[in-house]
Amino acid sequence: MKINTVAVIGTGFIGTVHVESIRRTGVSVKGVLSGSAESTKRGAENLSVSTQYKSVQEICGDKDVTVVHVTSPNALHYPQVKELMAAGKHVICEKPLALTAKEGIDLVNLADKTGLVNATCFNTRFYPMVHEARSLVKSDLIGVPRYIKGHYHQDWLTLETDWNWRLEAEQAGELRAVADIGSHLIDQIGFVSGLEISEVMAELHTLVKTRQKPTGPVQTFTIDTSSKRESVKMSSDDAAGVLIRFTNGARATISISQISSGRKNSINWEISGPDGSLAFDSENPEQLWIGHRGKANELLQRDLSMLSPSAAKISFYPGGHIEGFSETFRGLFERVYADIESESRSATYPTFADGVRSLQITDAIAESSQKSSWVKVKR
Ligand SMILES: NC(=O)c1ccc[n+]([C@@H]2O[C@H](COP(=O)([O-])OP(=O)(O)OC[C@H]3O[C@@H](n4cnc5c(N)ncnc54)[C@H](O)[C@@H]3O)[C@@H](O)[C@H]2O)c1
Repeated sequence: MKINTVAVIGTGFIGTVHVESIRRTGVSVKGVLSGSAESTKRGAENLSVSTQYKSVQEICGDKDVTVVHVTSPNALHYPQVKELMAAGKHVICEKPLALTAKEGIDLVNLADKTGLVNATCFNTRFYPMVHEARSLVKSDLIGVPRYIKGHYHQDWLTLETDWNWRLEAEQAGELRAVADIGSHLIDQIGFVSGLEISEVMAELHTLVKTRQKPTGPVQTFTIDTSSKRESVKMSSDDAAGVLIRFTNGARATISISQISSGRKNSINWEISGPDGSLAFDSENPEQLWIGHRGKANELLQRDLSMLSPSAAKISFYPGGHIEGFSETFRGLFERVYADIESESRSATYPTFADGVRSLQITDAIAESSQKSSWVKVKR
C-alpha cells in the first residue's frame, strides 16, 4: 500500500522531531493537530505544513492520510490511537503506549483485528551502535549476558521551579521518570541482551517535595519565567533504583533520574557475559566499548564498512560525520513505512506488543516500590 501522506498529533518537542524525521524518509506531512486551535496554527506555520486539523475525527476522515504519528501527552495516547485505528489508520505512537497495560492490550487486540501496522516509538534502539551491540551479542562475542548495569539520567527537572505536564498524574500517569525515560532504558537493555525480565525490586524517590508550578502551559525542555507560580506538593518519581532478575538467572541494577545535574540525556549501559562486555552511552552515540579480561579493550567507532547489516541500514552518513538522536527516529520510521508499503510485518521495530511489555514492567516497578518487595512481571 502506497503511503500518501502522514498527519502528526502534537507539535511540541517531539512532534517537531517527528515532522523533521518523517520528511527525511521522503514521505510528506499533510497536517498537524495540537492542543488548541492557536497551538495547531503555530505548529503548522513553524513546521510549514498545509493542513491545520481541528480534531482527531477530522484526521480519521482524511483519505489522504495513511499513517498518523501520536506525540500528544501520555494520557491521550490510548483514546486517540483507538479512534485512529478504528478509522483504518496505521499508527506510530510515542511511549508510553498507554497509561496501563490493560489499555495497551486493548490496542494490541485492535491492531490484530484490523491488521494495521503499529509501532511504539522506542526510538533509542535505533542508534546504530545499539543495533551493533545486539548483533554482537547474537554472534556470541561476550557469551550469554549475565550482569547488566545501566542508568538513564537527565537534569531538566532538578530545580523546584522546573515544570512540565509530566509532573501531573492526570496527563502523564502515576509514574514519571520511570515511565518517561526508564522505559527507554529497559527497552534498550532487553533489545540488546535478548533477555526477558522475570521480576523487579524497586524504590521510587520523590526528592523535590514541592514545586513551583507556573499558571500557564510550558513546553518540554523550556523554562517559563513569565508566569505567576503556585506551590504544589509532589508525589511522582524524580528518580528510582531498580534491581532486575531475568528468566535465565542474569541480573541487572539500574538507576533512573531526571534530577542529576550535568547529565542532559544519558542512556548508559554495560552488559557483561562470561567472555566480554559491551558498553554504550547516548551522549557519545558513535562509539561502542568492547571490554576484555585478557587483552586490551576496544572502542568501535561507527563506520559503515565495519558494521553489521542491521546497524549499517540505520546509519545514514559516512563514519566521522556525527549522527545522533534525530536519526534514531528516521531509522524507526523507515522500517515502519517499509512494512506498510510492502504489506508485510518485518518485526524490525518495536510494536504495540513491545509497548505493552514495557507497561507490564513499569507497572511491576510501581507495585514493588509500594510493597517494598520483589514483584513478578505479569504477562
Ligand atoms: N521517544 C522519545 O525520545 C520521546 C522524547 C520526548 C517525548 N516523548 C513522548 O512524546 C509525547 C509528547 O512529549 P513532548 O515532550 O513532545 O511534550 P510537549 O509538551 O513538548 O508537546 C505535547 C504536544 O501535545 C499537544 N497536545 C496537548 N493536548 C492535545 C490534544 N488534546 N490533542 C492533540 N495535541 C495535544 C500540545 O499542544 C503539544 O504540542 C509524550 O508521550 C512523551 O512521553 C518521547
